[in-house]
Amino acid sequence: MPPAPCSQLDSSGRLRHLISLDGLPRERILALLDHAQALRAASRNGTRAADVLAGRTVINLFFEPSTRTRTSFDLAAQRLGAHVINFDIASSSTTKGESLLDTVHTLEAMHCDAFVVRHKESGTPQYIARHLRSGAAVLNAGDGNHAHPTQGLLDALTLRLHRPNPAALRIVICGDIRHSRVARSDVHALHALGVRDLRLCAPPQLLPDPAEFPGCGIFHNFDEAIDGADAVIMLRLQKERMEAAAIPSEAEYFVRYGLSSDRLRGAHRDCLVMHPGPINRGVEIASEVADGPQSLILEQVANGVFLRMAVLVELLAAGDSAKIRA
Ligand code: NCD
Repeated sequence: MPPAPCSQLDSSGRLRHLISLDGLPRERILALLDHAQALRAASRNGTRAADVLAGRTVINLFFEPSTRTRTSFDLAAQRLGAHVINFDIASSSTTKGESLLDTVHTLEAMHCDAFVVRHKESGTPQYIARHLRSGAAVLNAGDGNHAHPTQGLLDALTLRLHRPNPAALRIVICGDIRHSRVARSDVHALHALGVRDLRLCAPPQLLPDPAEFPGCGIFHNFDEAIDGADAVIMLRLQKERMEAAAIPSEAEYFVRYGLSSDRLRGAHRDCLVMHPGPINRGVEIASEVADGPQSLILEQVANGVFLRMAVLVELLAAGDSAKIRA
């Protein structure tokens, strides 16, 4: 069941929290991409980002492992001059039985402006946002299989940088769609870009109810799905969220759903290859494809920092974002 909604926008339509791309107006999504793109261009010209978040505190609250998302939020906040705390769950009082909300309220009492939250339970960021006692913002860094909005946005940004007219593209998302918060956020972000031919491909046991994905083509045969594709987004098997017997063997999975060079030849000649990471080589993607000339995997990582900078400015710059953008 989807988590109860929480208003992400304030009464004047400004972003208050970033919980999900579902329900976020298309213009808001496109404005965030434009801002991230401008920050990326400035950085490539050697311009250092202004310390527009000096004096602000961002707390990373990651209850699940993370390499790129946590580091990316950390760097994004620091490059804008914010102070960042990487809250260490393993050595915190949560191990002494303190509840999630007691932990959050304790951190709030020390004053912070934003919580970046990752949790295995869908709905945790909304839950925190609804119970905050301060004006802090909540940024969802991935909750269960529900949403990973900044990943959806950075994927859309990366795609748009390479294909400025994404509406005309055929895009395939292949892998463990059922357990993927990335797939859910990617679908919203790509629909906001105007993508019409969006295909989801997975074995039947790794596809949720197609009604959850209106406007998407559903495929179980990867060779059919990839035919003529302009971009393929591969997903990891999220074993931590599935029953042991869901996939018979990784070798068999790779034969049917792995992205090999041979299979990629069925796509458009310049097909872009994307993956949110972490990649499992030889399971959902062959090394030669992951490291090959069509792969944007590390570029996605690089773009993620600019995208998260744009989101942090939007959420924390309190009314003066026009000044900050100038
Ligand atoms: C993903 C996640 O955690 O949802 N990774 C990421 O944030 N880049 C995907 C995954 O874990 O497979």
